[in-house]
Amino acid sequence: MILTWVKGLHIAALILWCAGLVALPLVLSKHDVGERQADYARLRRITHYGYTRIVTPAAVIAIAAGTALIFLRGVFVPWMFAKLVAVGLLVVIHGLTGHVVVLMSERRGEYAPPSSKPLLAVTLATMTAVLTLVLGKPVLPDLVPAWLKTPQHRQLPVEATPT
Ligand code: HEM
Repeated sequence: MILTWVKGLHIAALILWCAGLVALPLVLSKHDVGERQADYARLRRITHYGYTRIVTPAAVIAIAAGTALIFLRGVFVPWMFAKLVAVGLLVVIHGLTGHVVVLMSERRGEYAPPSSKPLLAVTLATMTAVLTLVLGKPVLPDLVPAWLKTPQHRQLPVEATPT
């Protein structure tokens, strides 16, 4: 029962998060150097409130619920770790988007936002990779070397802590 609720929360939050990561660069790219005050204010309201009140809280909830799911489902398996690497990239993209949102305010009138196309291409490819991993649950090779998983019975390189 709890699993159903946490997974539902995870999916609802990640839909909002991913939608925001696609929408925000598109809206930001509508800004222009020397745009009219009314246009600037309208876009700024959407990007600032969208980022701070919707997309960032959704990201936090998606990651918190996902972390709880790892333990509820016990999925300590290679596809899950590969998914986490891809999710890390989404977090970097989230940060980059927030940086542009801030620059639009701090360097108002002189800053032209970057083209949304390259960022969107990387974002959509990363989301596709995450979904392929979590829905396909492919059997990936375990890349951890055996010596990291077995006791080596060696002495510590330092003196034992005095008691
Ligand atoms: C740190 C972030 C995340 C963590 C820790 C996490 C973890 C998890 C875990 C443990 C599950 C349960 C897997 C299972 O039931 O076998 C799950 C389900 C799922 N996750 Fe995530 N996730 C994260 C982010 C994301 C993102 C960003 C997406 C999409 C872009 C996503 C898409 C999904 C989907 C679609 C499911 C349902 C899969 C199913 O029921 O078969 N997750 N997640």
